[in-house]
Amino acid sequence: MTGLPFGSDLETKRLLLAPCREEHLAGLYAMNSDPEVMRYITKRPETLADTQKMIARVQARWTKWGYSWWTFIERHSGEIVGAGCIQNLRRDGIEPEVDCPLEIGWRVRRDRWGQGIATEAAWAMAEFAFDRLRTEVLCAVCDPENTASIAVMLKLGMSYRGLEHWYAQQVATYDVTAEAWRNARG
Ligand SMILES: CC(C)(COP(=O)(O)OP(=O)(O)OC[C@H]1O[C@@H](n2cnc3c(N)ncnc32)[C@H](O)[C@@H]1OP(=O)(O)O)[C@@H](O)C(=O)NCCC(=O)NCCS
Repeated sequence: MTGLPFGSDLETKRLLLAPCREEHLAGLYAMNSDPEVMRYITKRPETLADTQKMIARVQARWTKWGYSWWTFIERHSGEIVGAGCIQNLRRDGIEPEVDCPLEIGWRVRRDRWGQGIATEAAWAMAEFAFDRLRTEVLCAVCDPENTASIAVMLKLGMSYRGLEHWYAQQVATYDVTAEAWRNARG
């Protein structure tokens, strides 16, 4: 992929976060075709064609905006264990909506749940949003019943803002300012 901004690859203790690209297709498809992973997102498993389209869409966004989705690669095994993003929230299906606030998002392969992977990646993605993109506020949204995702939001120092209309539905909306995030990070 060309046109990626310097520093778009992120690194944490256990993970490499690399902008999604074609060579991640099999690993991303394995995760996104799991109905349990998609339960609170689209409520249906992805097809291989869906994942292919997602990678193409995301690559175009990286080139155009300089932020989008990363693939989480476990450093010790080289395996794809998740994905996450910094992107603009969307009201409905329309895009781009760069005037909408930035959101952070995550998903993790089911056999790696409960190991702190989403939280570890989220710290690195939030740092990218606050320190590189200089955003003042970062949002996160989810199905109100998605307690695992809410737990990650709270770990990042996010506060509940209420039920808001994003992605053509009512979603639990959380946010954190740069200052509150720095305090939560310690
Ligand atoms: C949400 C998700 C990414 C969390 O990933 P994860 O790597 O398991 O999260 P972490 O291990 O970093 O857990 C963070 C905290 O959430 C807690 N948590 C994890 N699963 C939980 C659950 N089902 N219910 C309540 N809390 C949960 C953990 O205990 C942890 O807190 P602790 O350290 O105090 O114990 C993962 O469950 C997932 O991929 N779900 C499907 C995709 C999805 O819904 N993504 C979010 C869309 S908004």
